[in-house]
Amino acid sequence: MSQKYLYIETYGCQMNFNDSEVVAAVLEQHGYAYTEEIKQASLILLNTCSIREHAENRVFQRLNVIKKMRKQNPELLIGVIGCMAERLRDQLFDNDVLADIVAGPDSYRNLPELVRIASQSKHAIDVHLSESETYNDITPYRVGNNRISAFVSIMRGCNNFCTYCIVPYTRGRERSREIESIINEVRDLDAHGYKEITLLGQNVNSYAYTADGILYDFPKLLELVATTVPHMRIRFTTSHPKDMSDDVLHVIAQNNNIGKWIHLPVQSGSTTVLQRMNRKYTREWYLNRVEAIKRIVPEASITTDILCGFSGETDEEHSETLDVMRQVEYDMAYMFKYSERPGTTASKTLPDNISEEVKIARLNEIIALQNSLSKKRNHADVGKIFEVLVEGRSKKTDDEYKGRNSQNKTIVFPRANTKVGDFVKVRVVSASSATLKGEVVE
Ligand code: SAH
Ligand code: SF4
Ligand code: F3S
Repeated sequence: MSQKYLYIETYGCQMNFNDSEVVAAVLEQHGYAYTEEIKQASLILLNTCSIREHAENRVFQRLNVIKKMRKQNPELLIGVIGCMAERLRDQLFDNDVLADIVAGPDSYRNLPELVRIASQSKHAIDVHLSESETYNDITPYRVGNNRISAFVSIMRGCNNFCTYCIVPYTRGRERSREIESIINEVRDLDAHGYKEITLLGQNVNSYAYTADGILYDFPKLLELVATTVPHMRIRFTTSHPKDMSDDVLHVIAQNNNIGKWIHLPVQSGSTTVLQRMNRKYTREWYLNRVEAIKRIVPEASITTDILCGFSGETDEEHSETLDVMRQVEYDMAYMFKYSERPGTTASKTLPDNISEEVKIARLNEIIALQNSLSKKRNHADVGKIFEVLVEGRSKKTDDEYKGRNSQNKTIVFPRANTKVGDFVKVRVVSASSATLKGEVVE
């Protein structure tokens, strides 16, 4: 039998990227070689995201292009996996989509069987959500050519039910991964020469796992990971403000190898909007957590997610968001306008009543403010020396390398005698709102 090839395209968050690596590992054990050449593929999987309508539309457009490839290759199997598979289910077999396989985020172990069914009958589906699946024992197949930095999933699902958000429906209940398997994966990455690990989950600071009568919460896990691999750099994302404790901040401050970067999605700076969103904190609580970060880990960068134009958002509530941004002075932000998702509490009980025009105007105001804040924060770095993990050549030229500092900011610098995977000291010489430029000092 000729070699079968798997091609995966991944959309959405880092958890999806890590899941694609789990999928590649599962299918590799069943005879599929991973390829980055779509034309070579006998199986094409799109690992999809449902977070905003726009994310889903992109996938539909892509499927339209991909399904034409069946003309050249009638044996080709096309699968939709991930969050859209969970949300849209057998709608994805309809004529305008024509998937052969539909698999939700907890069904990846079952993919070999789904592939077998699909190759006979063309319709294979598993969207069962599990209370316990963490893919504990599966070593992800590391996709891409960066052998420096890896994701390690520490939990799956989400129990927070923010009213606007589809994730609890597509990913199911929150569950923490067994601590031993996390530590084993971390050790294995170290042994394979990796230099940086990002611990992943929708709400990492609610991690909780009991082993031998000891409760490991997130601060304990983070410390254990940091001390297990003292030469690797450890990051984590995402933290929910309601669970951002001083304990975590002390662990970050006390361990040199934990990245001084905290991603703390605010969503809105208005307590009334936060209530409608069911975020479970107030503006004051959030600002108090930021104050704690600045006190306990003063060198930390702070980044966020902002969602504007949510149900009923007034001009005043919107200006409270701008005001929080000015107070915190974020280093970077992901900024979105509200997109109603069918099935969420907001879609059932809170009207999507801010006009597209107003949403766009507010988003633009937020983006403009953030640009000026990023610029200010980056300019404050000029003259400072940072330890940078070299990741590869810069976009523009072979003579320049890029890497990130502990604060997760990208710095571009003349490559000098450095090589990919080195930690080098770089002095920042200039800054824009998006990048820092520097020179190697040792
Ligand atoms: N677990 C993370 C967020 C994951 S989703 C957290 O709680 O912060 C990433 C971001 O997408 C969210 O922070 C939010 O800003 C945005 N988002 C989620 N649902 C959205 C929606 N319906 N419309 C627009 N943006 C949304
Ligand atoms: Fe969505 Fe809220 Fe869970 Fe984040 S915490 S994934 S925004 S429900
Ligand atoms: Fe998207 Fe699912 Fe991640 S909806 S953001 S891929 S958890």
